[in-house]
Amino acid sequence: MNAPLSRPPSSHTGMGAALRQDSALKHATGEARFADDLAEPPGLLHAVLVLSPQAHGVLAPLDLAPARAMPGVAAVLGPRDIPGRNDISPSGRARESLFADGLVEHWGQPLAMVVARTRDEAIAAAAAIAPVIEPLPPVLDVAEALEANSLLLPPMVMQRGDWQAALDAAPIALHGEFRCGGQEHFYLEGQIAIATPGEDGDMAVLSSTQHPTEVQHIAARILGRDYSRISVTCRRMGGGFGGKESNASWVGAAAALAAAATGRPVKLRLARKADMTATGKRHPFLFRWRAGCDAAGRLLALDATLAADGGSTLDLSGGVLMRAVTHALNAVDVPAVRVTGLACKTNTVSHTAFRGFGGPQGVLLMEDVLHAASRATGRSVEDLREHNLAGGPNGSETPYGQHLEGDLIRRVWAEAKTLSEWDARRAEIAAFNASHPTLRRGLGSFVLAFGISFGIVAMNQAGALVSVYTDGSIRLNHGGTEMGQGLFIKVAQVVADVFGVGVERIRITATSTDEVPNTSPTAASTGSDLNGWAAHAAAGSIRARMAAAAAALWGVAEGDIAFAGGEVSAGNHRMGFGELAHHCWAQRISLSATGFYKTPDLSWDPVAMRGHPFFYFSYGASVAEVLVDTLTGEHRVLRADLVQDCGRSLNPAIDLGQIEGAFVQGLGWLTCEELWWDAAGRLRTLGPSTYKIPGSRDVPPVMNTRLLAGAPARADTIFRSKAVGEPPLMLATAVWNALRDATGAARLDLPATPERVLQAWHATGPGTAHRRGG
Ligand code: MTE
Ligand code: MOS
Repeated sequence: MNAPLSRPPSSHTGMGAALRQDSALKHATGEARFADDLAEPPGLLHAVLVLSPQAHGVLAPLDLAPARAMPGVAAVLGPRDIPGRNDISPSGRARESLFADGLVEHWGQPLAMVVARTRDEAIAAAAAIAPVIEPLPPVLDVAEALEANSLLLPPMVMQRGDWQAALDAAPIALHGEFRCGGQEHFYLEGQIAIATPGEDGDMAVLSSTQHPTEVQHIAARILGRDYSRISVTCRRMGGGFGGKESNASWVGAAAALAAAATGRPVKLRLARKADMTATGKRHPFLFRWRAGCDAAGRLLALDATLAADGGSTLDLSGGVLMRAVTHALNAVDVPAVRVTGLACKTNTVSHTAFRGFGGPQGVLLMEDVLHAASRATGRSVEDLREHNLAGGPNGSETPYGQHLEGDLIRRVWAEAKTLSEWDARRAEIAAFNASHPTLRRGLGSFVLAFGISFGIVAMNQAGALVSVYTDGSIRLNHGGTEMGQGLFIKVAQVVADVFGVGVERIRITATSTDEVPNTSPTAASTGSDLNGWAAHAAAGSIRARMAAAAAALWGVAEGDIAFAGGEVSAGNHRMGFGELAHHCWAQRISLSATGFYKTPDLSWDPVAMRGHPFFYFSYGASVAEVLVDTLTGEHRVLRADLVQDCGRSLNPAIDLGQIEGAFVQGLGWLTCEELWWDAAGRLRTLGPSTYKIPGSRDVPPVMNTRLLAGAPARADTIFRSKAVGEPPLMLATAVWNALRDATGAARLDLPATPERVLQAWHATGPGTAHRRGG
């Protein structure tokens, strides 16, 4: 065990302490209870979904009678059995049905639900339903959708300057096209909800969700009930990664529908295969671009199209695309630009949030441009990156009008370059490659500027509820959810710091729409920024009241009261925190308070694609080394050096874990995780046997992870920290660059599976013979 982590919790528990995730030990021992571990209430029924066997077609009204006649069946529910609206749209901007009604738009789309005494009975009855679908031709590929102008949204266009004139005038013309794949979330705990009907139309939903309030709203919409009747609770998720931002809502709503129809508690747990079939994934993208640079490789103009495969419905594609477009230049400056974002409609499951939310796709663009510029000018990708970074001699304003901090961009890159011993290893790798007949090593870099805040301004708010009991113990509730990322311990540290008590005095409780209403999802990496401040405000109100009581008691000024080490003191006066809490109660002073926070100074014009959408940027840089076997196309990542700016870290143990985990998840997306749909639009990668997530042996044997040393602290973030959840996933982009370096590939589509790496290696072009000759 790590020394700082094994310290007794009270020795240093405030800000900056390297404390474990609140349930880490219970995760390891199996004592942490997830929804499916809870004792099942008497009378619990099990629900199973009936999924479409076709990707596209006209659906005849389902004959539910055969399923209803099966043993143990309590209810069979289709679109006509929804008392409210058959609409699960998270944005409210499109009609998205819970159960298909008349038209099927993707393979695996829910058509109906069977509710039975046991899970096996429900599965058997679901199989008795034979959907009759008159097939229509499916659109399965994003290029096909582009061709057919099949879009979910009007195009998003971000532009600056006369990009056309700048393209025409540029001495060197560049162009490119490439693709990246989607990604399955593969949370260890699949989607699950347990709904329990109460009195007078109340419905309690226990949900594995990043967004309890949206589960509440969608369940209320499906049932046709007031929000106040629906209460949603989540103690923890076994991973979310964006997959439980909107998809958990319809799962929760379906469970609520079944519970309302039967009057009994109902559990809906998607088995892995059903989960991978019926829930959205990361958006695959197709990129097409033209650019111009001068002989030194300074980029002058860019015109790029980012086409996202949104799947069959809108879901969160608007937000994902906005982030992809605003991150398409990443930390690079190009004076004249047009970036067009298209959300294509295809007959696949509707793609959704996934760690980075379109950012990881967006930031790939400039890497491809830099590689093309490198081939055209003969300068290295890294030289060109440095030459074109935002700030310094180049502009620091993004095309949407917000400024990047050029000095920080340069600092993270300089640290990564030093940490990775770039120059020495570059030489060593060249020598290795010259001497080996079949193996090739490659080195790749990456620099990131990732905007923090929800793209929709209204979502940047949070609430908290803090109660102090008369023994000095403290109960903390806030709108954020815990999915393994360590949010609960971070916010508990904030509250412990305010009261000057050990973190073990803080009782961390489940997220609940009953305690904190109208919350935003825990997403966009904003969990600790938003909920940390809200909890700080709540705790601060109580502390002020307690300080006033102590001041009155001791006849001192309120400003002289200190809260530290579990005690409250002023001069020679001193008492335990619990003693003062009890005193306040006796004085009839309230010891509970709500807190609220909204991120200041945000603005966004979605039509002009301009404004100040992000509170700040999170910066990172990385270097990765790969070893490629040119006979098989297989590779290994030998080493990774990661530098991430977390401001003044709230909890370095959590932050380092987030960086490592995100990087590995990113390299999975870029190298081994491949979603494969057949010609009929059926996803054939439906489990760990066919869908390869990175394992322990895919973690680079040398992995140096650093929080940016002496990161300049912003005064206006919670304890001057910065968000960490998503940005480091993008640091894995260095692996793509390393593979291109090793193979000399002009184009390497993602994921860079052995097949694609082999193709890239064999693609004819100048340099092939030279490489062979070694
Ligand atoms: N870490 C773990 N262990 N499990 C998760 O599901 N989700 C990621 C990230 N880190 C995730 C995670 C995603 S997609 C986001 S947006 C953030 O955590 C959300 O939490 P935060 O805002 O508290 O960082
Ligand atoms: Mo994270 S994709 O914002 O849930």
